[in-house]
Amino acid sequence: MKDILQQLEERREVARLGGGQRRIDSQHAKGKLTARERIELLLDEGSFEEFDMFKTHRCTEFGMEEQKPAGDGVITGWGTINGRMVYVFSQDFTVFGGSLSETHAQKICKIQDMAVQNGAPIIGLNDSGGARIQEGVDSLAGYAEVFQRNIMASGVVPQISVIMGPCAGGAVYSPAMTDFIFMVKDTSYMFVTGPDVVKTVTNEVVTAEELGGASTHTKKSSVADGAFENDVEALTEVRRLVDFLPLNNREKPPVRPFFDEPGRVEKSLDTLVPENPNTPYDMKELIAKVADEGDFYEIQEDYAKNIITGFIRLEGQTVGVVANQPMVLAGCLDIDSSRKAARFVRFCDCFEIPILTLVDVPGFLPGTSQEYGGVIKHGAKLLFAYGEATVPKVTVITRKAYGGAYDVMASKHLRGDFNYAWPTAEIAVMGAKGATEIIHRADLGDAEKIAAHTKDYEDRFATPFVAAERGFIDEVIMPQSTRKRVSRAFASLRNKKLENPWKKHDNIPL
Ligand code: HXC
Repeated sequence: MKDILQQLEERREVARLGGGQRRIDSQHAKGKLTARERIELLLDEGSFEEFDMFKTHRCTEFGMEEQKPAGDGVITGWGTINGRMVYVFSQDFTVFGGSLSETHAQKICKIQDMAVQNGAPIIGLNDSGGARIQEGVDSLAGYAEVFQRNIMASGVVPQISVIMGPCAGGAVYSPAMTDFIFMVKDTSYMFVTGPDVVKTVTNEVVTAEELGGASTHTKKSSVADGAFENDVEALTEVRRLVDFLPLNNREKPPVRPFFDEPGRVEKSLDTLVPENPNTPYDMKELIAKVADEGDFYEIQEDYAKNIITGFIRLEGQTVGVVANQPMVLAGCLDIDSSRKAARFVRFCDCFEIPILTLVDVPGFLPGTSQEYGGVIKHGAKLLFAYGEATVPKVTVITRKAYGGAYDVMASKHLRGDFNYAWPTAEIAVMGAKGATEIIHRADLGDAEKIAAHTKDYEDRFATPFVAAERGFIDEVIMPQSTRKRVSRAFASLRNKKLENPWKKHDNIPL
């Protein structure tokens, strides 16, 4: 008996070493943690329960039968984050570069199936050279099995990917189908094919960092939702994100203790909007002043900064925020901001997270580059996402809400539950100057007349009151009381029930 116990310990010891000390040292030398160290940091201390520690590959090509490391390059199991259950896989770059074999895939599929069945998020720590080259089509089949489960799990349990090393080929497509992708600066890359293949095929000379580093994917491509300085920061921030999310689509988001007065009055908000309608101000100030303890978890902070997306809590409950940012492109909607916000709204709706929309939008960005890029279809994504969302929706218009963008930004007409406006709101088809130049074209040569028409238009339309008279705005509120009004609105909507007509699924303009 003692021998068997001893044998188990020894086999565990070997398995824990993955690809061996030399490769572990090389991983550390690159500033990366090992797959096991990452799990330790991600989960509550001592909470990790491992599956399939001794699973090995079955490949006999290229002398592979001689090397059969226990675990086959991925560590899988479950544990807790602040006491709440999550499933996790962590690819071990020290074993065949974390590449995905038939059995490596089976391990991931096992926890994907369990996560869906038992209703808990899946967190993937990715560090992989893609398909295990020695296994050929078995590896491709393994990827497709993982992809299929990503798709089935979408909207059922939150799926989070952290890219913590080079991820090439198939290794990027599974993350691409998850809800959030985070990267680690300087040590992680995502590309379909690496710089060498790019050079051969297109003659382009590009570094791995330029092609698929954290900066590229958070600022240019928007593939990734955030980038962190190192492994420790990335894992800590994932823990923080998980605290905002429900475990699955049948549960409400967690309610956390809060230490902030829901009725807190913020006098400074009364002067947030400048006198001059063309002067920008920072919408993040409003978000911070509305949120419990000013805590805001921003998603896609570095991409399409003209719209802000992220999570706050109100009275301890998670709320998704979508807000135009007047500091960037005057807060207009364009292709990138519409796509960014639409995906965020859909995530919130999947997981029953109420949505707060803060509006200061002069309209859609005009121009050929937008039209040629399909702004009509991309803008429609956001319109569609808001319109189909059945979660509680509270909207506050702080200043401009012009034209189509007024309709899009969770207006009353898209089933907004509470639509508030500050007294500074201007709800109209367009700005006074543009409107005057169109409807009084005959007077264009007469500056005095144009000024009078503009003033007249401003007085009549650049206010919230026409919309309030129609009931499109439920109430014009004092800026200082925004937190209180919004908190009470969401509190009153906690039992909201709204269902869309039965359908197989909708056909959002992709
Ligand atoms: C098997 C692999 C591997 C792979 C790396 N290794 N990638 N083994 N299959 N795909 C092994 C290496 O042989 C090496 O083994 C160890 O992992 C570390 O690799 P290095 O090259 O030494 O590390 P590094 O210099 O850091 O480079 C990492 C890398 C590079 C950028 C990931 O290894 C690389 O380009 N690999 C191939 C990437 C790729 O083309 N994958 C296939 C994509 S096709 P030793 O024993 O020396 O430690 C694909 C199809 C799926 O994925 C499509 C589905 C839609």
